[in-house]
Amino acid sequence: MADLDGLTDGKDFGVGIPVEKRPFFLKGSNELDWGMKNRLSQIFNPKSGRTVMLAFDHGYFQGPTTGLERIDLTINPLIPYADVLMCTRGILRSVVPPDTGKAIALRCSGGQSILTELSNELVSVDIDEAIRLNVSAMATQIYIGSKHEHQSIRNLAQLIDAGNRYGIPTLAVTGVGKEMVRDARYFGLATRIAAELGASYIKSYFVEKDFEKVTAGCPVPIVIAGGKKLPEMEALEMAYKAVDQGACGVDMGRNIFQSDSPVGMIQAVSQVVHNLMRPAQAHELYLEIKNQGK
Ligand code: R5P
Repeated sequence: MADLDGLTDGKDFGVGIPVEKRPFFLKGSNELDWGMKNRLSQIFNPKSGRTVMLAFDHGYFQGPTTGLERIDLTINPLIPYADVLMCTRGILRSVVPPDTGKAIALRCSGGQSILTELSNELVSVDIDEAIRLNVSAMATQIYIGSKHEHQSIRNLAQLIDAGNRYGIPTLAVTGVGKEMVRDARYFGLATRIAAELGASYIKSYFVEKDFEKVTAGCPVPIVIAGGKKLPEMEALEMAYKAVDQGACGVDMGRNIFQSDSPVGMIQAVSQVVHNLMRPAQAHELYLEIKNQGK
């Protein structure tokens, strides 16, 4: 029997004090269910509204690319500085410690390689697996204008339907075919299509001209991919311009793990993303950490 000793009637009901109605901090996400919002809050920092996702899923079609030969040695030391880890389930289970406390964005598409047609993807992870792995988001690529455009959009719709059933957000990644022009018009089209289909947030590339039109035309958050390795200062400038023009963070891989100081670079990127630190100052931070031999 429950212990009823000492049970007293409630007195302080705050009569007359209205219940606080707080809008959800993330663009386009106010009407989502609690579980979805809870997971999005693990991805995006509620204070800054932005995220630093560390992407190391490249092996799903590239194999052991530079910097990812030994993920345990190169990526695991960076985990404390990331908000989100983006990887495949194979790497998650075999290499990533389960007690990091970090949100996971799980790569849920695959089926091609650098030796074949990149847009020929399928959904590679079942929703049961995503739930079992306790992920905060599922990610798939869409290849607008590519040979397998239709199939990639169908993959996205399939993940969104499954994710919505269980409160798991879907990240649409805008993949770019070799023949595609990387401009604001293209990314405006691709990100908007993904948002209209119901993606929770979208990864785009940054473009110098009219990027703010891409973010403005997309009703849900956009994060930028880092892309090919750039000099550290240029990568920091790109991150700054992206967030300054409406991006909600970065999903960055090579510009962090291929840096000569990955620990310095991820901390510098994080300062830019969350605190809008100017690129020059962030670069000094990166150099300082690098010069400590880290
Ligand atoms: C593609 O391989 C993946 O989606 C990566 O996660 C994405 O391209 C971000 O990595 P990076 O900053 O190296 O472009």
